[in-house]
This record gives sequence, structure tokens and C-alpha cells, in this order.
Amino acid sequence: ADRITFLGIESSCDDTAAAVVRREADGSAVILASVVEGQVSLHAPFGGVVPEIAARAHAERLDHAVEAALSQAGLGLGDLDGIAVTAGPGLIGGLLSGLMLAKGLSAATGLPMVGVNHLAGHALTPRLTDACAWPYLMLLVSGGHCQFLAVEGPESYRRLGSTIDDAPGEAFDKIAKLLGLPQPGGPFVEREAASGDARRFRFPRPLLDRPGCDLSFSGLKTAVLRARDEVIAAKGGLTLQDRRDLCAGFQLAVADVLAEKTRRALAAFPVPLLAVAGGVAANQAIRAKLETVAAEAGATFLAPPLRLCTDNGAMIAWAGIERFLAGETDDAGLAARSRWPL
Ligand code: KG4
Ligand code: ZN
Repeated sequence: ADRITFLGIESSCDDTAAAVVRREADGSAVILASVVEGQVSLHAPFGGVVPEIAARAHAERLDHAVEAALSQAGLGLGDLDGIAVTAGPGLIGGLLSGLMLAKGLSAATGLPMVGVNHLAGHALTPRLTDACAWPYLMLLVSGGHCQFLAVEGPESYRRLGSTIDDAPGEAFDKIAKLLGLPQPGGPFVEREAASGDARRFRFPRPLLDRPGCDLSFSGLKTAVLRARDEVIAAKGGLTLQDRRDLCAGFQLAVADVLAEKTRRALAAFPVPLLAVAGGVAANQAIRAKLETVAAEAGATFLAPPLRLCTDNGAMIAWAGIERFLAGETDDAGLAARSRWPL
């Protein structure tokens, strides 16, 4: 195929994102522009993403994000070969804004439109950054998702296991809240954990006693809450060191569980590559354990740069190109789906 250039639009959660990605004739990818307008400060006062606020922010900012991406790429709509847009899963208000914009642009220009599953966007990122060959194992660990995916082609995913309750990022955020740390909590918990004693509190390793690759994180959160309350009851408050030790114990439990389940997933699906995506993949302690597990299984470990691990438009543009090359396009009937398992 010739070079193909796509606009990608992402608005499924709390990032308004647009990007322009080109696939060269040799299959390599170039990110010509990637604009991500986060909404952290809008939601921070509420301690979590508020769907109504997110929907309004996407509606207000999407046009600007798309214009900024095109202008950074130095391209006009006429230089594109297609438009990719996240059609789900996610918050319905944001998804609708993105879809309406994509449909309008497609109708006005005659460009093909391709609806993309947000999870496929994450799952295909190793092919955007490193031209990885099929098949590979993807561990997706974010604030909203936690699953092992056997990736065998642009339309071929098999879920080997997933969380039965919270996602790990959600657990990091809740622990941060319990300990009075800012949101989103992951990076703050990691920073505290760095100078904590991970062995002072013995937190559970949920579901390790059961076979398979499913995960659970909500019991861990309850255990941290109980330990915190015991310390407060005994001493009348938490010292800085108490807080660091609680963070360290919690983070080690998450890392241990992810490592063991990854070991099992690689045993069930023995492939030469383990890739991670999602905000939690930024955690150095977790990364280090996963790297060891991959090495033990003789697999390469790949973690895309953080800005491509978290939500972005480039992964949507790329997934759209892959679907397009597989012969898939959508029409004006494309619907937003708040739930859409891969
Ligand atoms: O992928 P992402 O940007 O958004 C979605 O959830 O889709 O992930 C955000 C999540 C948040 O829960 C945040 O606390 C977590 O990733 N996170 C981390 C770290 N950095 C971000 N968790 C643990 N350690 C980190 N360094
Ligand atoms: Zn995501």
C-alpha cells in the first residue's frame, strides 16, 4: 500500500485528543501531530471524573484539538486519507461529541470514517511505536481497565483474564484518597512508596490462590483502609513514615499480583513479546517486575513511551489505519457504545 494518513479523534474519558498519523509504504508509522487536552483540573474538586463535566468539556474542545493537530502536522483535511474516531467503550457524552465531529468531517470531505474500539487503540500501540509483529501479549493496566489480551491481528483479540472488580489505577487513586494524597493518585503513591518499608504491612495477594489470569483489587483497598485505621487508633494519627510504609506495602502487593498473573498469561499464550499500556504502566516498580517475568519466559518486554501508554489520539488514528487496511470502514450509522468488549 502507499502511504496512508489518518486523523484520529479520542474523547471516551477525560482526555480530549486528536492526532495525525502516517503509515509509510514500508509499514512504519510517523506521528505527525498529537494533541491531548486533559481535564484533570476540571474534575479534581470532585475526586473523580464527572461524566457531565467531561461531556461538556469534550464538546467545547474537540474542534480546537483537531485544528491544532492539523496545523501542527502542516496538513489540511484534503491531505488526509481517512478519519478514525473512538466509538466506545467509555462515557457516552464524550463519545457522541467525537462521533458527531467525525461524521460531520467525513460528510463534508467525502473521506472514509473508521470507528475504533478504544481498547484496540491501546492494544495496537506496540505496532505504532515499534512495528511489532503478531502475535503478542498485551497487559492493559489503566484507571478504567485491566486485562490480558492475546493480540493476533488487527481484528483478533482474545481476553485471557481481566479484573473482576476495580482496575489497578482506580485502586491507586482510592489509596491516595485514603491517605490524603492528590489525584490522580498513582504517581503520588509511587513517590511515597519509594521511601517506605514494603514489609511492615502484609497485604493480601487477591486471587493468587485461584487458577487463571483474572485479577481483583478491591479487597486490597479494604486491607489498606483497615491497616490505616489501626495505626490511627493506636497512635492518634499517621506519621509521614506510616503513610510511606502503607503505600509501599500496597504497591508491592499490586506488583506481585500483576507479575504472577502475567507469568500465567505467558504460560498460556507463549509468545515472544509482552507489551504493556495504560497509565499504571508508568509505575517503575511494576515495570521492573514485569520485565523480569518477561525475561524468565524468554520474551521481550515493551512499554511504549508514557504519552502513548495513556489516552491519546495517535493510537486511535493508527488503529483506524489498521482497520482500514483490513477493508473496514463505517458509515453515518456508526453508533457510540458505552460498553464494548473487545
Ligand atoms: O491510561 P490512563 O491515563 O487513563 C485511563 O484510565 O484510561 O490511566 C490513568 C491511571 C490513573 O488511575 C493513575 O493513577 C494511574 O493511571 N497512574 C499510575 C501511575 N501513573 C498513573 N498508577 C501507578 N503508578 C504510576 N506511576
Ligand atoms: Zn485508555
